[in-house]
Amino acid sequence: MAWLEEVRSLIPITREKVYLDNAGAGPLPGPTVEAVRGFLEKWMREGEPWEEGLRAVVEARRLFAELVGARLEEVAAAPGVTYGLNALLASLRLDGRVAVAAPYNFPTSYHTLHALRRRGILREVRVARGDGACTVEGEWDRLVDDDTALVVVDHVSWITGCREDLKAAAEAAHEHGAILVSDAFHSVGVIPVDVKSLGVDVLLAGSYKWLMGPHGAAFVYVSRDLLGELEPSLAGWMAVEDGVLDRMARGERVFERPFDTTDYRRARDARALEWGTLPLPAFTGALESLKLLTHYDASGRYGAHTSRLVERLMEGLEEAGFEIVTPRDEGRRAGIVVFKARDPYAIAGTLERRGIVVSARPGIIRVSPHFYNTIEEIEAILEHLKPAR
Ligand SMILES: Cc1ncc(COP(=O)(O)O)c(C=O)c1O
Repeated sequence: MAWLEEVRSLIPITREKVYLDNAGAGPLPGPTVEAVRGFLEKWMREGEPWEEGLRAVVEARRLFAELVGARLEEVAAAPGVTYGLNALLASLRLDGRVAVAAPYNFPTSYHTLHALRRRGILREVRVARGDGACTVEGEWDRLVDDDTALVVVDHVSWITGCREDLKAAAEAAHEHGAILVSDAFHSVGVIPVDVKSLGVDVLLAGSYKWLMGPHGAAFVYVSRDLLGELEPSLAGWMAVEDGVLDRMARGERVFERPFDTTDYRRARDARALEWGTLPLPAFTGALESLKLLTHYDASGRYGAHTSRLVERLMEGLEEAGFEIVTPRDEGRRAGIVVFKARDPYAIAGTLERRGIVVSARPGIIRVSPHFYNTIEEIEAILEHLKPAR
């Protein structure tokens, strides 16, 4: 497969290790590091390349929007998923109502919701029941009611690998006038994601896992309908109408006219969530990684390759007698495979000494191949895992 060799030549870690921890952090491609270096060197030699950095943010937002089937104006940039989630929640009218969350979300959404509950901004946080991997069917109908403001479901669980049924969650939420917020950190870039057909109102993803960018860059999709309803309680000079980006887009000199500081008129698009200067070197790198992923159509054309790697991995683990947590059905998983282990740190340590990188989590091992991995790498980990069983 010539494309695979080509793509691996751009990802230096593939020459050093069998890297199977994309759910932890993706590897940085060479061109990404070069782009960040170029930005910083230019700053060092010529002064801050500010407008260039801002353009990288807009361009990265544009590529992310294309990747998830959204419009540019529906995507905000944020320094991380957690920051983006908080910016969004601080812009919703929650009126002391209820949030309903999936059982296998990453901790960040629970903490954020509980913090709102402690301040009385939410009244209650209900957590759906799980079957060990996914939300139990029917839970949304049981828990979501007319008092629900939010349903919060990670698209693919960081800890079980389950791909949740977002359509079912969206239907239940919308039936009761609630919105569906999904952290899609573990699906965008791995499997095809289309915000419109999934029915999500908000979708978040960061750059440093499957999108193979550096820390400091993330994206928040907010549906056009919801954008009209945002009432931010936090703001800043970048989040307003006639702000820096508006002026740049019109070809104006940014500081030629004074900014109107007598009031706050929020940006009508998702930039209402971008309060101030973002980590521009991070977005410069994230943009380069997004270009690589979209050039190779990692989640589309080569998503089938990733799926084959996952299938072979699950088959091999099952043959070796491991108890797999992640659902076997292709529609209910993405790139994460989780299996039970009594001493996960010992297993991960042994693999590490053999140049194979996975992650240890409580009572489990998580293996997460991406489109640039090979079937030989999957066979290698299976071979090394046999003695662990
Ligand atoms: C699903 C998910 N959401 C959020 C995070 C945390 O993101 P950040 O710390 O960049 O906000 C992680 C990190 O592992 C994650 O797996």
